[in-house]
Amino acid sequence: MTSRIAVFASGGGSNLQAILDYLVSCGRARPGDVVLVASDREDAGALERARDAGIATALLRARARATGREPLALIREHRVDFLALAGFLRLVPTDVLSELPSRVVNVHPALLPAFGGPGMYGERVHRAVLASGASVSGATVHYVEAEYDAGATLAQWPVPVLADDSPTSLAARVLKVEHVLYPRVVSAVASGRWRFDSRPRPVPDAAFRSLREWDERRLVRDIEEAFGFDSNA
Ligand code: GRF
Repeated sequence: MTSRIAVFASGGGSNLQAILDYLVSCGRARPGDVVLVASDREDAGALERARDAGIATALLRARARATGREPLALIREHRVDFLALAGFLRLVPTDVLSELPSRVVNVHPALLPAFGGPGMYGERVHRAVLASGASVSGATVHYVEAEYDAGATLAQWPVPVLADDSPTSLAARVLKVEHVLYPRVVSAVASGRWRFDSRPRPVPDAAFRSLREWDERRLVRDIEEAFGFDSNA
């Protein structure tokens, strides 16, 4: 049985797009379909991408605003059994987390637990990494809990911080990793191939090798080999 996946996003939705493209590339072996894209922002590019792909969209109710729908009602109405956050800037309500135990994941543009938590999103993350003088950043895929960036880590992949990096150039490098790593972890967890494990998965040795010889053209192969993802399945 294939999963019915919802994606919650507040921004441009490039990770949503990466998930959609990856599922298409899996063909009949895909673990699920994105059946709903919801956002707290009417102008989110993610909603546009969903409409272009013929996927149902919804505006989520914000505390201060009467318009929009309650997340749990939407999850039930669309019979969603897996939720992927993709640049979603709000906390997921606890009733949704209880409805989908170990079935809600997120991607964060740094190596959690570093540079995570309340207020750490978007460019702020990359600014903080550069200000700290760290030579490595990366992407983290993790389970979602009721607090920001708090759930168990599913997968991490490091990215070098270069001497002349700006927040924009670092964000772009990290985003390339997100686009490869996130759809594959979503697929592995949605299909049940990866099961809940509260111990963080170690960063594979291959990830450190790729850090020393950074070559974006090898990302797909390196990430698939390191985590044992089948290509296109
Ligand atoms: C990504 O960097 C993701 O890690 C973070 O928000 C950003 C969303 O970008 N949670 P996009 O909207 O998917 O392009």
